[in-house]
Amino acid sequence: MSHLTLRYRLNGNERADLVAGDETLLSLLRYRLDTTSVRQGCRQGTCGTCTVLVDGEPRLACITLAATCEGCAIETADSLPGSGGLHPLQQAFMDHFAAQCGFCTTGMLMAAKALLDVNPSPSREEVIDAIGGNICRCTGYEPIVEAVLAAATAARAGATPPAAHRHC
Ligand code: FES
Ligand code: FES
Repeated sequence: MSHLTLRYRLNGNERADLVAGDETLLSLLRYRLDTTSVRQGCRQGTCGTCTVLVDGEPRLACITLAATCEGCAIETADSLPGSGGLHPLQQAFMDHFAAQCGFCTTGMLMAAKALLDVNPSPSREEVIDAIGGNICRCTGYEPIVEAVLAAATAARAGATPPAAHRHC
């Protein structure tokens, strides 16, 4: 199998890594670079848990060849916290109990980030559509939708998202 040197940016850092022509982005990020926020679920493009952003677009790392990312900017959930603390999406996921086992969460966060980066005022339907390829076996999705909407509101206001009130 032929190899090539892949030049790209990972969470803002310039990198050059030798990759095989058939190596997936999941393999490179998770197993060779130890970026464990990129989760492995189905490994066949159906669960969404491996979602990362490539030049701002959500991509399934398990079915994306690393070699196709030459010159690209790749973002994983590790890029979310800023100097001021948690990203509004992370804070809202905590406040709205949008992560239970957490297995889907990093992929969900990146799918939601891709939406909010281009649409800071999404409707509920747009949020549902944006996370439609991401499977969650725990939450029933409603807390995740509420969290994304709250994060959008908080980001627009430049503030910490309001916490949800638990009714149980
Ligand atoms: Fe990539 Fe399931 S692990 S879509
Ligand atoms: Fe468990 Fe989503 S929180 S799969």
